[in-house]
Amino acid sequence: MYNNILTSNENGILTITINRESKLNALNIETLQEIKQAVTAAQTDASVTGIILTGAGPKAFAAGADISEFVNFDVKQSTKMSADGHEVMNTIERSAKVVIAAVNGFALGGGCELAMACHLRVASDNAKFGQPEVNLGVPPGYGGTQRLIQLVGKSKAVELLLTADAIGANEAMEYGLVNYVTPLDDLLPRCCEILNKTATKSPMAIKAVINCINDYYQDGKDGFKTEIKEFAESFGTADFKEGTDAFLNKRKAAFQR
Ligand code: COA
Repeated sequence: MYNNILTSNENGILTITINRESKLNALNIETLQEIKQAVTAAQTDASVTGIILTGAGPKAFAAGADISEFVNFDVKQSTKMSADGHEVMNTIERSAKVVIAAVNGFALGGGCELAMACHLRVASDNAKFGQPEVNLGVPPGYGGTQRLIQLVGKSKAVELLLTADAIGANEAMEYGLVNYVTPLDDLLPRCCEILNKTATKSPMAIKAVINCINDYYQDGKDGFKTEIKEFAESFGTADFKEGTDAFLNKRKAAFQR
């Protein structure tokens, strides 16, 4: 069904693996579109409770956009490339199901941007993050200039974007770019552990929280107003009834999917 990614659903966790190991999982346009398709399909697949995005092999999550593909693009093609790439990142960021980037090596350029679009990032201790685009004569094109500032703050983001320096997993953790660092062997189990926890929570409330968070960063939106709306709308939902009833009756909530 897909040419560049592998998908597997184990116990409700959909793992999307970028499968271009010989090219360090470089993100050609088709790969990005396939990731978008898989994340979109997961939204209406009741069997999926959470999503892991990772790269094939022990060396790379994704070493960037595929340079050999875009090298001869003109302005029209590069505009479309960037706009479509932003759509892919927005699709991930707006996913109502929690998406974790399991960063198993290089996350450079578009790879770093892809990881940053996920809700959480867990890195193996060999991971390397960076936005090396200025080496190639371009700025980042998939949201990197914006999301890096959001995640690590302006001071460090400016330095990383202007120097093209790559940083290791522990440094990324120190700056708040990743949530956890693990040995490579523990990477996917750690992500599953987090998703198994979020899977026990109210899917409606998880979706509402993601909407509120995203509106903090959305131009023209007021996240505080979104929160009032989401809070109010949660009253009367099946999840609210179940969650509050479970608490009051001293039992574990069992939310429907
Ligand atoms: N686009 C296209 N191909 C890429 C790629 C990318 N972003 N990153 C790696 N590859 C390819 C290489 O061309 C090579 O292909 P080949 O074997 O057919 O020649 C293969 O993946 C292995 O990469 P290689 O450079 O030989 O591995 P390395 O271990 O020596 O170096 C990196 C690893 C990540 C330091 C290096 O590949 C690199 O700098 N990649 C580009 C990073 C980048 O600038 N990303 C931003 C793009 S906008």
